[in-house]
This record gives sequence, C-alpha cells and structure tokens, in this order.
Amino acid sequence: MKTNIVTYAPNAPIWQAYRNDFSILDRDVNNKPLAYLDNAASSQKPNKVIKAIVDYYEQMNANVHRGVHTLSQLSTDAFEEARKTVQFFINASSEREIVFTKGTTNAINLVAYSFGRTEIHPGDEVLISALEHHSNIVPWQMICQDKGAKLKVLPINEQGELCLDQLPSLINKKTRIVAISHVSNSLGTINPIRQIIDMAHQQDIPVLIDGAQAVPHLSVDVQALDCDFYCFSGHKMLAPTGIGVLYGKDKWLNKLTPFEGGGEMIKSVGFEHTTYNDIPFKFEAGTPHIEGVLGLAKAIEYMLDIGLKSIKAREMYLYQLAYERLAAIPGFKMIGTAKEKAPVLSFLIDNLHPYDIGVLLDKQGVAVRTGHHCTQPVMHFFNIPGTIRASFSFYNNEDDILQLDAALQKAIKLLS
Ligand code: ALA
Repeated sequence: MKTNIVTYAPNAPIWQAYRNDFSILDRDVNNKPLAYLDNAASSQKPNKVIKAIVDYYEQMNANVHRGVHTLSQLSTDAFEEARKTVQFFINASSEREIVFTKGTTNAINLVAYSFGRTEIHPGDEVLISALEHHSNIVPWQMICQDKGAKLKVLPINEQGELCLDQLPSLINKKTRIVAISHVSNSLGTINPIRQIIDMAHQQDIPVLIDGAQAVPHLSVDVQALDCDFYCFSGHKMLAPTGIGVLYGKDKWLNKLTPFEGGGEMIKSVGFEHTTYNDIPFKFEAGTPHIEGVLGLAKAIEYMLDIGLKSIKAREMYLYQLAYERLAAIPGFKMIGTAKEKAPVLSFLIDNLHPYDIGVLLDKQGVAVRTGHHCTQPVMHFFNIPGTIRASFSFYNNEDDILQLDAALQKAIKLLS
C-alpha cells in the first residue's frame, strides 16, 4: 500500500477508507504502485459490488421472470428491486421507464433503431453535436442512411464547448430528435443540456442524452431535466461491464416498437401474429445480465452512501491538483478548457506523440488513456492525432497525481 505523501486533502482519512474498498488499487503494475487514472474508460469496482455478484451465484442463481421455484422468485425479486434502485438514482417517475441494456452504446442503438423505424422519414433531420462519442454518432448516421434523412451537427468552439448560439438555426420543422452527451468523454466538458432540452421541446422535438460520463460524477434527475431518453453504462460507475440503462419517458417507450425480438419481450406468439409485453420488458428480449443488474444496484447504493455532492467535490479537488502540477511542465497544453468540466484532463506535451507517452507512463505504473478516445471528429477539430487523458475518480489520491507528474516528467526526458 502506498503512503500518503500529501495529507492536506479535505477529509483525507475518509477518502482513504473508501479507497481501501478497491482491492485492485493495492496491486503493482510493472513493479510500481498502480496509479489508475483511466476512470473515464472504466471505473474500478468496490469489494461490495464484487461480493454482490459472487453472492448472487452462490445463493440464488436462476433465471428471472420464468420459474415458480424459489430461486427464480428470489432472483426475480432482487432483479426488480434493482430496477427500483435505478429509478430512484435518476429520479424517474416509474420503474417502468428503466430498461436494462448492455451499456450506453446498446441503449443509443435501441433508440436510434426503434425511434428511427417509425419516427424518421426521408428528408427529416437528426441533430447531434461535434462533441459526441462515436456511439452517439454512428447509430444516427446508420438510421439516417436507411431512412434518407440528414445528420446535422452542432459545432464546438476552441474551448471544447458547444456553440449554443447556433442551436436555433439548426432546429427546424424537419428535426425529429436531438441526441447530445451530458459530459464529453474526451474533454470533460459539461454541456448545458437543460437549456438544449428546453429549446428542443419548444418545437416538440424529443431529446436523448448520452449520460455515460455524467452519472459517475453528477447527480442526475431525469424529471428535472425533462429529457425524453437518458442512457448510461454501469462499468463507468463502479458496476460490472455489460450492463447499462435506457431511461425513456413512459409515453415514448409505449409508442416505440421493440428493438430485438425473443423471449421475455412478448405476451403471446403465433406464426401469424405476436403481441408484445408491457414496458420495460418489451425492450428486454432474452435472459438479462442478472448479476450485472444486481452489481449495478449495489454500486448505486455505494455511491449514494458517499453522496454525489461529496464525490464531485473530491474529484474536482483531485482534478485541480493534477492540473496545477501538470500545467507547470514546459510544453503542457490542455485540450478542452470549458468553464464547466468533469474531472477529465486531456492534454498534450509539445509535439510528443500521446501513444509514446502512454507507453512510458504505463512502465511506471500509471494508467491513462491515449488516442482519439472514440471521438475522432473532436480530434479533427483540434487538428491533433489524439490526447493523453487522465480521468479521476473519488478513490484516487494525491499520491496518484504525484506519481503521474513524476512519471510524465521522466517520459518527456526520455522522448526529448
Ligand atoms: N468511452 C470510453 C472512453 O472514453 C471507452 O474511454
């Protein structure tokens, strides 16, 4: 275990206690302590979440919604209880509005396909932004191609913020849906989604929010936002991989046709005609990722126990500390300088290639992501091949940042 070199963090002992819940953070990588700063790609999992998954397999493993036997009923109850936990987490008005998916990508594809099939027609437009992850670009591109519709893009400025002033000219009678990220994964910009939703709703246009990078850091209230769809992944917020959520307003989920067909999503099946199940089951074909759902509920409980306000304050403190140290390094250039930011620090060092730096950081135990971060249009806008991205979670500490700083300086010396 690493020692705390700096102890001036607010409530440092509490955060050290939370950090101790993540066994993986005690391991070495390349004979150095692990400094895990790739949280925007995937978070680590606390022991309670791992235990919830093991408990499920040791105590109640059985399929849900299918059996009269005890284990099936136990797992069905736990599964549906978890749906209520998610409902509470994002303040949806009903658990019927919570659809379990494989992740954010799967949730966006579900909406693009199901919404696109009936609501998008030749000549229509879909509006996204230049800040989107590929998963909030490509599904819309595909449905636009299928339907003869047009993909429109709200541009960004040099700070990596959306050009909101251009929104009125991009929303018109042809716009069928607006799909925007809550927080940019590559730059950390927090978008003014409430304003965007209001502007779209003034013209009766529904809005989908890609919340993958928001839920780990911000308190999300879908009723206050009034978004029509909100998508997020478990694995970025302490839960297992392969589980995600699509929140959809009741009226939309009822209106849309299913994305996939199979067991669970039907009421009756005949060769001539099939009737579909009620929401949310209509969108959950096949056996679901039961242990993922239970792990997600445990992760939510864990985050709510700490408190999202405390999490945000802790992460922004770490982000600020990292920024101050790295900004002192000659040649440091931050990419994405928006006023409202999540704890994502994307940067370059002179003309050094991000990949080379990433490899040398890894040799010193520091995990960051390098490259285009699945946002090639953002990199094209800044005319760069990619960035080095350090992204923080509440379980990081000052030692991680000092290690990043020292490792980066060493890498620069080796490459210069
Ligand atoms: N979307 C993930 C990231 O930003 C994978 O790294």
